[in-house]
This record gives sequence, structure tokens and C-alpha cells, in this order.
Amino acid sequence: MGKAFNGRVAVLGLGYVGLPTAVALATRGVDVIGVDVNPKTIEAVSQGRVPFVEPDLAVGVSGAVALGRLTATTETPEAEAYIIAVPTPFNPDRSADLTYVKAAAEQIAPRIQPGAIVILESTSPPGTTEKVSRWIGALRPDLKMPHNHDGMTEVHVAHCPERVLPGRIMIEIVTNDRVIGGMTSRCSERAAELYRVFAQGEILLTDAATAEMSKLIENAYRDVNIAFANELSMICEELHLDVWEVIRLANRHPRVNILSPGPGVGGHCIPVDPWFIIGAAPGVTKLLRAAREVNDHKPHHVANAVIASSERFREPVISCLGLSFKADVDDFRESPAIEVVELIASARPEVTVLISDPFINGSIPGRLGEMSNVRLEPAADAVERADIVVLLVEHEKFRSLRHTRFGGKVVYDTRGVWN
Ligand SMILES: NC(=O)c1ccc[n+]([C@@H]2O[C@H](COP(=O)([O-])OP(=O)(O)OC[C@H]3O[C@@H](n4cnc5c(N)ncnc54)[C@H](O)[C@@H]3O)[C@@H](O)[C@H]2O)c1
Repeated sequence: MGKAFNGRVAVLGLGYVGLPTAVALATRGVDVIGVDVNPKTIEAVSQGRVPFVEPDLAVGVSGAVALGRLTATTETPEAEAYIIAVPTPFNPDRSADLTYVKAAAEQIAPRIQPGAIVILESTSPPGTTEKVSRWIGALRPDLKMPHNHDGMTEVHVAHCPERVLPGRIMIEIVTNDRVIGGMTSRCSERAAELYRVFAQGEILLTDAATAEMSKLIENAYRDVNIAFANELSMICEELHLDVWEVIRLANRHPRVNILSPGPGVGGHCIPVDPWFIIGAAPGVTKLLRAAREVNDHKPHHVANAVIASSERFREPVISCLGLSFKADVDDFRESPAIEVVELIASARPEVTVLISDPFINGSIPGRLGEMSNVRLEPAADAVERADIVVLLVEHEKFRSLRHTRFGGKVVYDTRGVWN
């Protein structure tokens, strides 16, 4: 067991990763200042509220705020440790967009003092942690940074990637094993001091670039395996076979574990992170590129199948159930379900497309809100009125819909829920 962390922590970015991390620290007695550029987020957190849905997070935030352990501000403060948990999307050419990370590093630079720890939690291409050190160093030539003062660094910079599963974040943030990659071994040890405050899983120390790459390959591994399942679903459709039955039987082999197909791959991790590897080693990433293409094609395949079915009805009503990027979360980013609905609604503007998702709270996400032939309905009504029912996300609430009458309707179940 190493030394215990002592001091204040500033968490930059109060989203799905940053806010749970802030709560995990604050509820264990650490003073945490949450920093975000979005004033609405600051307002919500300051009042003890969570601006998105994540089980068990709300009670943690309200408790930590009430105890005065968690505060929120738009101004980056002086602190003994900084955790950067800002977005790392890709640019239109699919290169990594590190502008948020750079902005965070530049916010930290004027406030940081010798002895501080800087942790990059955002999923990043190899070399980004070193860039953080350089960006801070460029604004603070008075500080000995690890990229140019190996043994005697004054600021400890490390990458500590996050591998939580939305919907289970508050459990996994504590129980998952955690990889910590310092720019030096001392940086790793200092960062580990902080995570030992709440992490119950094993803490595995390595160097920064290895930690960056290990996080990226976790998501690339998922992407390749999902692509295999998605390709199987398209093969089986062409061969008039039930893909769920084919996979179920193949998975009885003791060393085979094929994943479930779906309407594509969504969220802002799995469809994004493989591009960071492809960008870093473009000549040797044929498989990763092919997997991305298969998964990106799947929403088009689903939409085309639905559009083809709709042609046999005179005035069809198409009901699409589920819009979030995965089941039982309110995260609609990069959702293949939204893409499917957009493709159907724009290909057949004269057709009514009913959508339903229990996690829509307020406005309809994406471009769908602007499409005049798309309407939000409760699931039971949408099914009742439909000629074609398309299940896009296996929200718990939709599972019981199989008991309603599907008679005479075309049912396209992309997740195999009603089989
Ligand atoms: N969501 C997940 O399940 C998950 C899992 C593992 C890793 N990650 C990675 O974690 C990182 C953050 O993801 P997220 O889902 O929490 O994103 P998010 O969009 O939910 O939250 C990011 C927050 O950062 C804020 N922000 C942007 N620029 C800022 C700045 N300069 N200073 C302070 N705040 C700033 C935004 O306003 C937003 O509130 C990404 O790199 C992502 O790939 C996410």
C-alpha cells in the first residue's frame, strides 16, 4: 500500500466520467472542485443536481455538495491534483480533436504549483499525455515538467484511462482494475496515491503511452468483435437464416463467444477510439478500418431493409423504438438508432415515422426534431399504430412489448429481444 493522497483535487470536465470521479473522491473525504465550461452544468452541480441520467450518481452529487466536499465553478482553481476528463472527439477527417485537452492544460498552467499531479483521464491517442506536459511546460517554463526533467520533475503527469460502462458507472469506477501510466515511474506512483482513495480494483502501473494504447485497444477489440456479429447478421439475412439461433449454437463451443448484432455501433468511445490507432499507424490497421466500415454501414443496411418493407404498404406508419446509443441510458451521442431513423425519414418524407424512447427528456435529439414526418409517441401507442415496428435499442421497458399484439405488422428486431 503506497502513500495516501492529501490535498484538493480539481476535476476538469463534469460529464459522464468527470462527475462520477469527482463524487467518488468527494464522498471519501477529499475536497473536490469541479470545473466545467458549461454554466448550466455548474449551476446544476452547485445545486446538487446531475445534468444527465446515471444510476446512483444523483444521490452522490447531492450528498457531496451538501457536505461541502464538492463545489463547481467555471474557473480552474489552484489544487494539489488536476484530473482532465474533457471530450476527445475526432475531426471530420477522423484525426483526434485534442482542442479540449489542450484548453484544459492551458487552464491548469497558470494555477499549478510544484508538487502537483496532472492526470489525463480522457481517452487519447498515444503521445497525448506527453503533449499535456509540453503544453503546461510551454506556459510555465519555471516548472520542471516530466517531458524534459526525467528524474527531478516538479509536476507529475500521468494517463489514467477510464473504462466505466454507462449505466454502471458508480459501481465500475470503484471496482474496475485501473491502468495508470506515468510519464516517469514517480509520476505513476503519485497518480496511484490519488486513485487509491476510492479504487478497489487492482492498480496497474505502466508508462503513459502504453496506458494510452491499452485503453484504445480495449475499444478497438470491442469494435472488431461487434463488427463480426454485425457482418454475421447481414450474411444470415441474405441466406434467410436466423442469426440469433446461429450465434446461440456457435456459442455452445467452449472457446467461442460471439457478441450480439445491433443497428450499428454508437456512443463516443467505440466508434471513435479505433480511429486514434488507425491515425497513429495507418499502414498496418486494415482490420480496424474494415471493422469501422462494417459497423458504420450497419445503420444503412437496417434503414434500407425497413424502406424496402415499407414499399408494400400504401400509407405506412413506421415505428422506431429506442434512440439512445445503448440500452437504458439517456446518452444519444453518435447513436446508430438516430441515424437509422434519419435515413428512413429522409428517404420517405411522405411516410409517418413514430419514435419512442423513455429516456428522451425534453427535445428530440439530433436532426430528428426538425423532420416534419417524425413524431414522438409513447411506445405502446407507437406499436399500436405501426405497420412496421423497428426495435433499435433494447431498453428494459420495450422487452415486455412482445406481449402486445404484433399481428399483421412487419417486425424488424435489430437486437433480438423479441425472438
Ligand atoms: N462516457 C463514457 O462512458 C466514457 C468511458 C470511458 C472514457 N471516456 C472518455 O472520457 C472523456 C470524457 O468523456 P465524457 O463522456 O465524460 O464527456 P462529456 O461530454 O459527458 O463531458 C465532458 C465535459 O467536459 C466539459 N468541458 C469541455 N471543455 C472543457 C474545458 N476546457 N474545461 C472544463 N470542462 C470542459 C464539457 O462541458 C462537458 O461537461 C472522453 O475522452 C471519453 O472518450 C468516456
